[in-house]
Amino acid sequence: MKTLAEKHTNAVISPDLLKLLAYNEKMAELGRISAGIVHELNAPLSVITSAAQIILRENGISESVREMVGRIKSESMRLAQLTRGLLAFGKHDEATEETDVNIAIEFILEFLTFEAARRGVTVRRNLDYHLSPVRMDSNLLKQILLNIMMNSLQAMEETGGKLLVETCATTEGNIQLVIADTGPGIPEGAESKIFEPYFTTKKPGEGTGLGLFVTKTLVENMGGRIEVKSRRNKGTAFTVTFVVKEQTEE
Ligand SMILES: Nc1ncnc2c1ncn2[C@@H]1O[C@H](COP(=O)(O)OP(=O)(O)O)[C@@H](O)[C@H]1O
Ligand SMILES: [Mg+2]
Repeated sequence: MKTLAEKHTNAVISPDLLKLLAYNEKMAELGRISAGIVHELNAPLSVITSAAQIILRENGISESVREMVGRIKSESMRLAQLTRGLLAFGKHDEATEETDVNIAIEFILEFLTFEAARRGVTVRRNLDYHLSPVRMDSNLLKQILLNIMMNSLQAMEETGGKLLVETCATTEGNIQLVIADTGPGIPEGAESKIFEPYFTTKKPGEGTGLGLFVTKTLVENMGGRIEVKSRRNKGTAFTVTFVVKEQTEE
């Protein structure tokens, strides 16, 4: 005999799906708690930065101390910038604004520095700094970038390799981003499935199979498109194109 709850759960979602949803919920909760911790980091970081600044204003400190304190100052400022960026990225409210795609890329790459380094992945940028800003929700753009880049890093988990991030304007005046890796390529037979919800080739806890589904949906909702090219043992490249609409005179 099944309990009512079991019957209900079975009718709506499978045990595997329930496991995934529970995992997602745990990660979301963890995200919310982490946001609080990141917020807490702001105060000590600003104390460290100002203390370093005060020491640097002192006369008669040796060159080596000056250099060390200078590094403390620049590193604490870098962390403060990262925590501010993280908090802004974590916000839920929708905000369409003039967004510089290259700045969003730099933010995510900075955020992923450690994730890349620990896998032996080097990052190469080929960014077109003449791109004009586009009206979009910059947090959604960051989420798109994070999903694609994190997949690339995970694909190069064992081997290390290169992550190339490129931006350019197309001849039609649209904005194109390419995120390419030198990983093993998309597993055989999976090319047509990677954008489906819950399709994953990763172990439980490493992937939910929702990343590319969410990414594609977000890109398309923003009026863009996403394409993928992959070659076995050579790598994978995702191309995202955002259509830039002409500003119409009112
Ligand atoms: N850069 C990549 N290289 C190789 N395979 C990839 C890459 N990006 C995505 N994939 C494949 O697409 C699948 C789905 O990706 P995604 O929707 O982000 O879910 P998840 O990362 O949770 O598995 C991955 O499990 C993997 O098999
Ligand atoms: Mg993913």
